[in-house]
Amino acid sequence: MSFRLSVLLFIAVLPNLLPAQQLPSIIPQPVDMQMNPGFFIIDNNTSVHFDKQQKATKPAVQFFLKMVQNISGYSLKVNKPGKNTINLILSSASHFPKEGYLLSVSNSNITIKASSYGGIFYGIQSLLQTLPQVRTNESLQVPCMLINDYPRFSWRGMHLDVSRHFFSADVVKEYIDLMALYKMNTFHWHLVDDQGWRIEIKKYPKLTQVGAWRVDQTDKLWGSRPQAKPGEPANYGGFYTQQQLKEIVAYAKTRNITIIPEIEMPGHVASAIAAYPQLSCTQVPQLPLTGGNYTNMASNYCAGNEAVFSFIEDVLTEVMEIFPSTYIHIGGDEVDKEPWKKCPHCQQRIQKEGLKNEEELQSYFIKRIERFIISKKRKLIGWDEILEGGLAPEATVMSWRGESGGIQAAKMGHDVVMTPGTPCYFDAYQAGPEGEPYAGGGFNTLKNVYDYDPIPKELNAAEHQHVLGAQGNVWTENISTTEHLEYMVLPRMLALAESVWSPSDKKNWRDFYSRLKVHFTAFDQKGLHYSPGNFTVKINPISQGGKLSVNLSSDSPEASVYYTSDGSVPGLSASKYTSPIPVESTQTIKAVTVLNDKVMNLVPVEQKFSIHKAIGGTVQYTNAPSKYYPANGPNSLTDGIRGKSNPGKFWIGISNDDLIATVDLGSEKKISKVGIGCLQSYKDWIFLPQTVKFEVSADGQHFQEMGSVVNDIPATALNPIIRDFETKFSSLNVRYIRVTATTVKACPKGHPGEGKPGWTFADEITAE
Ligand code: ACM
Ligand code: ZN
Repeated sequence: MSFRLSVLLFIAVLPNLLPAQQLPSIIPQPVDMQMNPGFFIIDNNTSVHFDKQQKATKPAVQFFLKMVQNISGYSLKVNKPGKNTINLILSSASHFPKEGYLLSVSNSNITIKASSYGGIFYGIQSLLQTLPQVRTNESLQVPCMLINDYPRFSWRGMHLDVSRHFFSADVVKEYIDLMALYKMNTFHWHLVDDQGWRIEIKKYPKLTQVGAWRVDQTDKLWGSRPQAKPGEPANYGGFYTQQQLKEIVAYAKTRNITIIPEIEMPGHVASAIAAYPQLSCTQVPQLPLTGGNYTNMASNYCAGNEAVFSFIEDVLTEVMEIFPSTYIHIGGDEVDKEPWKKCPHCQQRIQKEGLKNEEELQSYFIKRIERFIISKKRKLIGWDEILEGGLAPEATVMSWRGESGGIQAAKMGHDVVMTPGTPCYFDAYQAGPEGEPYAGGGFNTLKNVYDYDPIPKELNAAEHQHVLGAQGNVWTENISTTEHLEYMVLPRMLALAESVWSPSDKKNWRDFYSRLKVHFTAFDQKGLHYSPGNFTVKINPISQGGKLSVNLSSDSPEASVYYTSDGSVPGLSASKYTSPIPVESTQTIKAVTVLNDKVMNLVPVEQKFSIHKAIGGTVQYTNAPSKYYPANGPNSLTDGIRGKSNPGKFWIGISNDDLIATVDLGSEKKISKVGIGCLQSYKDWIFLPQTVKFEVSADGQHFQEMGSVVNDIPATALNPIIRDFETKFSSLNVRYIRVTATTVKACPKGHPGEGKPGWTFADEITAE
């Protein structure tokens, strides 16, 4: 190496020779962060300065002083001369985006500048994330750095259902603290539902005297709790007094969190009806629900009764006195229309208002409530069912049944909050499910949440502005303790925080995962319960070029996957996965994730592969399969994986059109039998094809029919059936196989979808 070159290289690497500054593990990832050498030391000589004229900053200052006191015992000075100063500058003249901040740290000064209280508060939160999280005797060193940061979305929400199980004011404050630490700014408080009314309403005291208390059956699963019997003590429940609620509103405000109260209507109000039976269509008295058994229980307000509207307006008037939020959430989800169909008052309303049906009656209900809310200078938000029968003129829609409600509303020019069940429901499983607390269903892993982008692809650039942000929802049918609640929220809320705060091009799963470890340590120190992550192995077939191989992966960037293919249980002595595994004979692959020499799964994940001559064939479809049932892609029909008797991920689905699939075997093969596996699942509108025709070809142009099978299982058979249609013939050299399965075009008589198109589901085209 020449001298000149070595000097140049030395200069080039020079910056790295400066004292290394590790990047602080801030979550959510700031927009821009630069590290500089050195530290600012916080101690008893540190003074916090803020402009006294700007009283608005004061709660943030007090918050900061208390946090520093908690971790170090130091009492910082305020607006007194000090050696090291921390300056909080709230300047309406500065051009920071709303809730954005500039945090600069040098050896002698820390400055946080923002144009809003939220910005100052978030500057403080980022600063606090660089410090120890629990009481320490170590010196408080803040690395010298410059952060320029602001959020991607204005609605960064977390929801909590306190009806299904009650959580005390202290637990709610803890929830708010966790939200604030990760810059979440909207707390959607689900205060009303069938199994408990949790907000004191002075004009209607029975709402909480009666509606907040039920027979305690916490020891039983939600769905198997017997209904209360007359005389049984109503010994489970609770509610928040208006005084407590106002205090929590103020507590949240200091932490830059707006609380959106949800007052459910017109359904999900069995608790209100238990208190005031005259609110329902039948007006029959009922006891508070104990769980998920609704037999003979009314859960709707009567939409034909004027007194119901007066009642709701009275309730909302008190709600709006407690909660200053712009938005009032009125629920609106899952209204069972049957009671309205049978109720003379509701039917009279439909007549009088010229409504077409009960969907329009629901729309009438919500529109009427919206007028009241707007008259109080507030805005209505509701679940996506408020689209049915016509959306109220200024309503904001919370999209939970997937993204379609949000997409539809945004295209209509309405604001939306995205909270699709997948992946935003944090009551779903996040791992396992073996070894996990019972969660009912769903599977939303940390990575699913991290990968979520609140802007649906279906929206154009102009429509993006209607997406206010996203929210994690925590329904508590199966969550009755604080520990369990923490476990469901941590760490998924941190992943969501990054999805709603950080620019999408700053998101990086591996980097997030490594920052997360620092937060796990803090959770351990604070005694918070959390899930260490999802260690399920994903088994993905790669079927192409006449060959099958299998890719194994785990969400954890630091873990390895170990597997067997001989039926034995995989452990540390099994094969370590490095690259796709060729599968040449029928076998079952079993796999586990291993981290730090420890198997992380209670049971291995396993998948059987059945080998035949069409494996690895390229499949082309004359009619495109549904985008909702793509299985593992087009070649799922030649990947050796057979489906289960539910319409899960291994089935290719098509509706309306026939399934016409042509398989290219890649080369000529001698075959004497072809087949296709199909599913019938009556309740899912999936029926066996009426006929299946098999053709073969050597050149892909000229096909010869080898047989046709007429289905003899009636479409009305209720139980799921997997049927293999097949045809045999004397051996032929064949390169192409074409299968035509005729889809049931109309669901049978008596089926809920009678007359509407059915579905064909297929899992494999086989050749032998
Ligand atoms: C909901 O999950 N019913 C909004
Ligand atoms: Zn009615």
